[in-house]
Amino acid sequence: MSTPTSPEIRRVQPARRLTGVIRLPGDKSISHRYAMLGAIAEGTSEIQGFASSADCQSTLNCLEALGVPIERDKDWVLIRGQGLRGLRQPSADLDAGNSGSTMRMLAGILAGQRFESCLVGDASLSRRPMRRVIDPLTRMGARIEFSEGGLPPLRIAGADLHPIHHRPSVASAQVKTAVLFAGLLAEGETKVDEPVPTRNHTEIALERMGVAITRANGTISIQGPARLQPLQAQVPGDLSSAAFFVAAALLTPESELVIQNAGLNPTRAAALTILTRMGADIQQEEVRALNGEPVGDLRVRHSQLDGGEIPVELVPNLIDELPVLAVLGTQTDRGLWFHGAQELRVKESDRLRTVAENLRRLGAKVEEFPDGLRVEGRQKLRGAKVESYGDHRIAMAFAVAGLISEGGVEIQGSECVGVSFPEFFDILGQVTEPS
Ligand code: S3P
Repeated sequence: MSTPTSPEIRRVQPARRLTGVIRLPGDKSISHRYAMLGAIAEGTSEIQGFASSADCQSTLNCLEALGVPIERDKDWVLIRGQGLRGLRQPSADLDAGNSGSTMRMLAGILAGQRFESCLVGDASLSRRPMRRVIDPLTRMGARIEFSEGGLPPLRIAGADLHPIHHRPSVASAQVKTAVLFAGLLAEGETKVDEPVPTRNHTEIALERMGVAITRANGTISIQGPARLQPLQAQVPGDLSSAAFFVAAALLTPESELVIQNAGLNPTRAAALTILTRMGADIQQEEVRALNGEPVGDLRVRHSQLDGGEIPVELVPNLIDELPVLAVLGTQTDRGLWFHGAQELRVKESDRLRTVAENLRRLGAKVEEFPDGLRVEGRQKLRGAKVESYGDHRIAMAFAVAGLISEGGVEIQGSECVGVSFPEFFDILGQVTEPS
């Protein structure tokens, strides 16, 4: 169904239906956190189901460069924690690759070390805003040099940190995590306000590792310095990766797909909520907890969707799913629109622009706002060449578009799916019947 015509170009042909039972690789967000926290825990952490994503490998590489012994065999990872202050000064720059999570969250740990280190990234990451972590970590006592405009590389001279009460200007789980990680090393109580709750994997992991962390009236507090017990944990399947298959099954007639072991943390599951409200037939089965994280199986059947507005308060909890939701919106009765998503402009690509441009190439009507998009409903998508813009979620969103297009979609630069989901095209091929 999708054959590579060169290492970087994939054709995705129209599909008759999607069926089968799939299991997705481990959650990227959770894997980053388990790895970083395991590195500063006192003892050895063993993680099953670790994400296969290149981004999480970037995190492991940085931790190894900081003197953390790590063993890895497929999705099994063993991390010999060095304690809060046991990391070693790296002999070279720490390369976060394409991963904003690696750079921003690791900065929180590096801010409290007694050595200097430098975080660098690829061309896309080097254009992404870092002031959001530079400012609070500087207030805590770290000295951070950066490029003009608050861009990477970040040269961090660690220091003895003092606690702050941080009121972030953007709703960001990465920023919250960076400040809480620094708070582990600071003497006293560090607080982060969160008017809109963002993904809470950090808080859940810290609790499991024996750290006292509280949330009251939208403020999260942590007492430092903290000692972390090692983790024995299994990572749930990545719900943001599952979203592409959920969308594909909803859009393709006669489809019925079961996605096993998907993370269902409510701070990540807003896409399921909104789709269900729009009429999607998505059943959650066998719901249980894995190390404090809700997981379950998703049974998704083809559905005609009403569409409508994505409420602004849900946007932070489905920020990574918006590209594929925009594609899906073209098939709804009323179309789909959203505001309050200006963060999409500073992701791996400017996702408002790249989604709009690719949709137009497929002949779709789409309106771009400074902070959102509106796509018309009941649109036919014609076959066309689209660009990934080096952005994994754009490549996968437009693979879904290919399944429902009239002539198939050719995705240029499709190899970037490896950033979060290297198995994407293989699994898609396994569950898709061509039309
Ligand atoms: C992430 C948080 C989100 C998300 C990113 C991963 C995390 O970013 O887009 O893919 O793991 O905390 P922000 O918190 O910056 O919005």
